[in-house]
Amino acid sequence: MLKESRDAKGKTAYLILDGTTYELPVIVGTENEHALDITKLRRETGYITFDPGYGNTGSCSSAITFVDGEKGILRYRGYPIEELAINGTFIETTYMLIFGELPTSTQRREFRELLCDQELLHEDLRHHFEGVPSNGHPMAILSAVINSLGCYYPDLLQIENEDEFLRAAAKIISKVRTIAAWSYRKAHGLPFMYPDPKLSYCRNFLHMMHSIPHRYFEPTDEQVRALSLFFLLHADHEQNCSCSTVRMVQSTEANLFASVSAGICALWGRLHGGANAGVIKMLEEIHDGDATIPDYLERVKRKEFRLMGFGHRIYKSFDPRAKILRQATHDMLESTGYDDPLLDIALELADAALSDDYFIERKLYPNVDFYSGIILRALGIPVDMFPVMFAIGRMPGWIAHWNETNTDGTTRIHRPRQIYMGESTRHYVPIEERK
Ligand code: CMC
Repeated sequence: MLKESRDAKGKTAYLILDGTTYELPVIVGTENEHALDITKLRRETGYITFDPGYGNTGSCSSAITFVDGEKGILRYRGYPIEELAINGTFIETTYMLIFGELPTSTQRREFRELLCDQELLHEDLRHHFEGVPSNGHPMAILSAVINSLGCYYPDLLQIENEDEFLRAAAKIISKVRTIAAWSYRKAHGLPFMYPDPKLSYCRNFLHMMHSIPHRYFEPTDEQVRALSLFFLLHADHEQNCSCSTVRMVQSTEANLFASVSAGICALWGRLHGGANAGVIKMLEEIHDGDATIPDYLERVKRKEFRLMGFGHRIYKSFDPRAKILRQATHDMLESTGYDDPLLDIALELADAALSDDYFIERKLYPNVDFYSGIILRALGIPVDMFPVMFAIGRMPGWIAHWNETNTDGTTRIHRPRQIYMGESTRHYVPIEERK
């Protein structure tokens, strides 16, 4: 039995187990979120908690990102995502997530220069791209090459101070776009384009993706702004699966390159960063006449598959990122004159789902992945690169969380427990006696 009361120090919960009462301190976050502190539970009671999927478990305290899923609120370091989307850029947001404050103009210039200095890959790294099959998935290449960076910077495997952290973080933030673009060039048999130091972060990425020797790709300002917004909206989302993976790997004192490489692997799955590609596949099937919207929803309701880009563990009213992206997708298609029939299908599908009891009862709303693929298509990004684009955007968040875990001084190696449900002791049977 669990009771809660208020004592002189604040709130305390009381747990009564087998006739003994135990006190569980209540932790209250800055946004009035409440948690029961069970850190001494097993030592004092012999019991553990059981929470598969960790839906009720706070794995750490963090000062980076706040999400209120009931109210559809997302803030990075206190700044509402809506304000950042209108006024900020991806690089400014990256700086703020990693270092805690928006940069002054000098800090922003210096950070841009640092990223510019780091944009090239060591020439030997070209062999990594040459060694993979041409149809190798770009997420596999991205995670492998990011991990390999550790071989080229052994002095940054053990980060002891802020300067080393800054150097390692800048290398990853800058080189991830070169690696991502080169994985695409490799898959399409195109020559690698080197980064151009005169170009901004997003423009440079589009250049490495789409330019060919002697013919520069020149994106419009709207396209560059749309890409910056896409990255900015993906930059962090507190303790999701890939971020928790990064923090877990760091808790062993693994290096930054290895930890974010593990984050890329966790992101790859279709329930996480792979969902944006799933959305486009679904919209294409409807567009090509392989399914109608009502048929599709009926099959989802029969649980044959999930509606990709819908639902979220935390958001139960709306995902503010999806709201921003829906409008941005509209604006971008209008300003560039690019007509994508998949947008109309997406809008129709979302309206149909949002007025259907199955989705209403389960509080399922479009998430960040529902509209993002249409923006990426308009930027000429192929579908297998979609999770890679998510990973580039999420890099500042992973790095900020890695640093928070690395420096907070209280982190213990992450090591959940289990409830064992297997065989009890039994004895070895020689092979000739086995039936
Ligand atoms: N389509 C149909 N039914 C769904 C969906 C969906 N997209 N999402 C959840 N449900 C149902 C689920 O079947 C369950 O129904 P019931 O109570 O009858 O068994 C109920 O809603 C609760 O689902 P859950 O699996 O307990 O929810 P969760 O919090 O564990 O999963 C999720 C969250 C995002 C994995 C899930 O909503 C999902 O699979 N969505 C589709 C994939 C997707 O779009 N992922 C991107 C997430 S946002 C970006 C990111 O962080 O990667």
